Amino acid sequence: MIILLIGKNGQLSSVLNKELSIMHKVFAVDRYRLCLSKITSLEKFIDQAKPDLIINTAAYNQVDQAEIEKDLAFEINALLPKFLSSKSQSLGIPIIHISTNYIFDGSKNSPYEEEDQANPLSVYGKTKWLGEEFVRNNPKHFILRTSWLFSSHSPSFLLTMLKLAHEKHTINIVSDQWGSPTSTKTLVGAIQEILNRLLYKKSPEIYGTYHVACNGKTNWYDYSIKILSVLESMGIKTLLKTDQVIPISHVDYYQKACRPNYSVLATMKYKNIFQSKLPDWDLEVERTILESSIRCFNSKLN
Ligand SMILES: NC(=O)c1ccc[n+]([C@@H]2O[C@H](COP(=O)([O-])OP(=O)(O)OC[C@H]3O[C@@H](n4cnc5c(N)ncnc54)[C@H](OP(=O)(O)O)[C@@H]3O)[C@@H](O)[C@H]2O)c1
Repeated sequence: MIILLIGKNGQLSSVLNKELSIMHKVFAVDRYRLCLSKITSLEKFIDQAKPDLIINTAAYNQVDQAEIEKDLAFEINALLPKFLSSKSQSLGIPIIHISTNYIFDGSKNSPYEEEDQANPLSVYGKTKWLGEEFVRNNPKHFILRTSWLFSSHSPSFLLTMLKLAHEKHTINIVSDQWGSPTSTKTLVGAIQEILNRLLYKKSPEIYGTYHVACNGKTNWYDYSIKILSVLESMGIKTLLKTDQVIPISHVDYYQKACRPNYSVLATMKYKNIFQSKLPDWDLEVERTILESSIRCFNSKLN
């Protein structure tokens, strides 16, 4: 398959690029080709690459900064997907687009289903929701909504905590916002499932919107405790101890953008249609911290 991967050096796109290149011809496009002023050149690039599939991982992802850089967030999160959707439709090819749990307002107290009403609270959420709506214009779309992404190599809450564990004696963490941390490995696995379906079982009814997140839910405070406990169980000494992590309410932690207090995603649709399992978030955190320590150890050796 020839795949046009929108995004190259991001948390998800860098892993996808590496994994998909084993089996497919991947053209990964970085941010310098993605601004709308260069859309003609992007279109030429797509025409030359002749992709069988477009995967859009690009996003203006800085949730608080998006409240200030509204136009840029709109361009990357809504107008770029609009162009990619219309381009893929005119080429008659499918598009896989990544979206977010932040399209929901968090007023529900049970996991959000794919059909639940979107009501984003932030510029990031609103522009991502608009992006989804544009992508749906191509009937051959897969929209994968995910949450609280982490990996061993890119900025995320997990890596921030690993760093703060060695720098801080005490820290306040929000304990009343709930979600499901999801490893990039899990999302990459789901994308590979879709690719397999596209390659071997051409069933059009599988197109649509899916929630892909790790099993289970947590809040930021319990998540931080889990990270510190894993470090402790691995014998890694930290300045920050679990009893020095102070749980606080989100109302006492100022952030420019409003986030949903509850944004756990229901993943049964994906599991049923793709006959696939998803891992537990805490096991993925353990695996990722181990991976990150091995990487750190190896880099010290070299
Ligand atoms: N991170 C999360 O916690 C989270 C949670 C839910 C959903 N998601 C969604 O998951 C997807 C992947 O997220 P991620 O964590 O991999 O994001 P990321 O690490 O921030 O990477 C974002 C990607 O978008 C591109 N990009 C960023 N700013 C850009 C700009 N101003 N102009 C053009 N391109 C720009 C980057 O291009 P380069 O390759 O040139 O760097 C990069 O490939 C996104 O759709 C995001 O909305 C993320």
